[in-house]
Amino acid sequence: MWQIIGAGAIGCLWAANLLRTGHKIQLISRKNSTLKTLYYQDLQGKKVIYDCPHSIKITDSSSPILVCVKAPQVKDALLQQRKYIGSQQVIILMHNGMGCAEQVAKLFPNNPIICATTANACLLTGPLNIQQTGLGITYLGPFNELAKPFSHLASTLNKAVANCHWRVDIKQKLWLKLMINIAINPLTAIFKVKNGELAKPSFQMHIKSVVAEAMPLLNKLNLGFNQTELITIINNVIIATATNHSSMNRDIHFQRTTENDYISGYLLKKASQYKIVTPLISSLHEQIKALENHSLTQLNND
Ligand code: PAF
Repeated sequence: MWQIIGAGAIGCLWAANLLRTGHKIQLISRKNSTLKTLYYQDLQGKKVIYDCPHSIKITDSSSPILVCVKAPQVKDALLQQRKYIGSQQVIILMHNGMGCAEQVAKLFPNNPIICATTANACLLTGPLNIQQTGLGITYLGPFNELAKPFSHLASTLNKAVANCHWRVDIKQKLWLKLMINIAINPLTAIFKVKNGELAKPSFQMHIKSVVAEAMPLLNKLNLGFNQTELITIINNVIIATATNHSSMNRDIHFQRTTENDYISGYLLKKASQYKIVTPLISSLHEQIKALENHSLTQLNND
């Protein structure tokens, strides 16, 4: 059995595919829901309906927990389930950004904690209603020593959603995704553009400067990144997701809290620990914060 916290696009994507491959699953969300039917449209446009058990709490204290809520909600989502989570139950964190695993490890010091990052793209078109929009690689790897024996979980997940791999050096993959998000998300949110617009020369200048600014920190952390390769990888994502709105663009558009503090904010914290200055990344972080605060003020005035 798999227990998935978060009935957003990625949570539903794993739920549908685990059900498809014969696993028992339980979808867990904050609000009590009577919805038990999951609608899934795959990349070929084929629509499938699954019976999907849905609950507000963890009911099994030994099977793996896959946490698919956004970074700012991870800690609270797990705190809410704290009394139901077994002391050795595996917790897998799958979201954009970094910094949550450290928070979760403080709350659950004896639990194996696995970090995951996925490039699968999926749209939530309604409650428990998803449409897969892109295929991508998923990486999982141990955050703590306790998680090291659980590589077999990546094999199980790989049978549900192809191209899912275990990486002992998961930190490198998380930083790679972090750099992709740092380069793409704030610019698309500030300038209100789709990802593909960032291929234009004026944005390319910004992206090159963002990467150049991050390099001293990435080198200090021995992540083995090459500046030119990193820019190429970022541009490949821009091309592959050209018609998509980034998650931060959507969060600002719909006046929701963004992952800002777990994306640029995480890099800024690390950079300040090593006394490395990153003025452009800091300015992008501040601009997103200002947009978020503006949305909050608007919401309060409405
Ligand atoms: O956050 C997102 O939207 C995605 O991680 C990415 C890779 C930037 C594509 O839109």
